[in-house]
Amino acid sequence: MNYRLFFSPTGGTKRATGLLCEAMGQDFAVIDLTLPKERAKSREFATGDLLVFGLPVYGGRLPQIPGLLDGLKGNGTPCVLCACYGNRNYDDMLLEWKTEMEKRGFVCVAAAALVIPHVYSERLGKGRPDEADLPAIREFARRIKDKKDKTPVRVPGNFPYKKWEKPLLTPAKEEGCIKCGLCRQACPTAAINEDFTGDAASCIQCMKCVRICPVGCRRLDMSAIRKYLEENYLPRRENEFFI
Ligand SMILES: Cc1cc2nc3c(=O)[nH]c(=O)nc-3n(C[C@H](O)[C@H](O)[C@H](O)COP(=O)(O)O)c2cc1C
Repeated sequence: MNYRLFFSPTGGTKRATGLLCEAMGQDFAVIDLTLPKERAKSREFATGDLLVFGLPVYGGRLPQIPGLLDGLKGNGTPCVLCACYGNRNYDDMLLEWKTEMEKRGFVCVAAAALVIPHVYSERLGKGRPDEADLPAIREFARRIKDKKDKTPVRVPGNFPYKKWEKPLLTPAKEEGCIKCGLCRQACPTAAINEDFTGDAASCIQCMKCVRICPVGCRRLDMSAIRKYLEENYLPRRENEFFI
């Protein structure tokens, strides 16, 4: 059976994996790992299954969420890793991810680094993947289907991995909160307390609550990082494929 898995607080990774699976022209069962209750489930995959798996790049690494991959167990199960990033870089993400998947019984037979919209800038990765990206995505889909053996793919990256320093920020609750609870329900790391304040220790700054708040009262000022990103990383990066 084919599975499409993703963790995608603001939808970019979900969309990119959807385009790849559509290009493969096969049916995929969807496993959305964005909410903690889904990640808490144990899932075991068979040798004959195939996973197309998408995660966003955070700080050039896997999102550093405790237990992110721990519910997954493979039995020599082939998987295709899609590192989705906001046009800056994916650094050591694919190497770290491949290593972690192998520890859990998977064989990474192909990988891609796909540009998606950056959550901190409306300009980086805008509209990606777009029309111009589709021919190469289709070609990658064809090569995955044609790959008959389970040779592990070589991916770029260095060890020790790029250092991740977790920013101790969390979106503030501003005046006007109507206590609807949407932000608490949707938070991918259960980082919103009962009084709707944020817990900086578990917040990953994914911006889900900021996007979902119906009255716009959750805010996180990302103007400094946005300026830095737009001054340095605007030129279009091309997607990369490894097989
Ligand atoms: C904490 C954090 C760190 C990020 N680090 C990077 C990065 O190192 N390189 C990059 O190109 N994009 C980076 N991004 C952008 C994400 O890879 C991606 O654009 C965004 O989170 C959207 O994914 P989603 O829509 O699937 O949630 C980062 C985003 C967040 C929230």
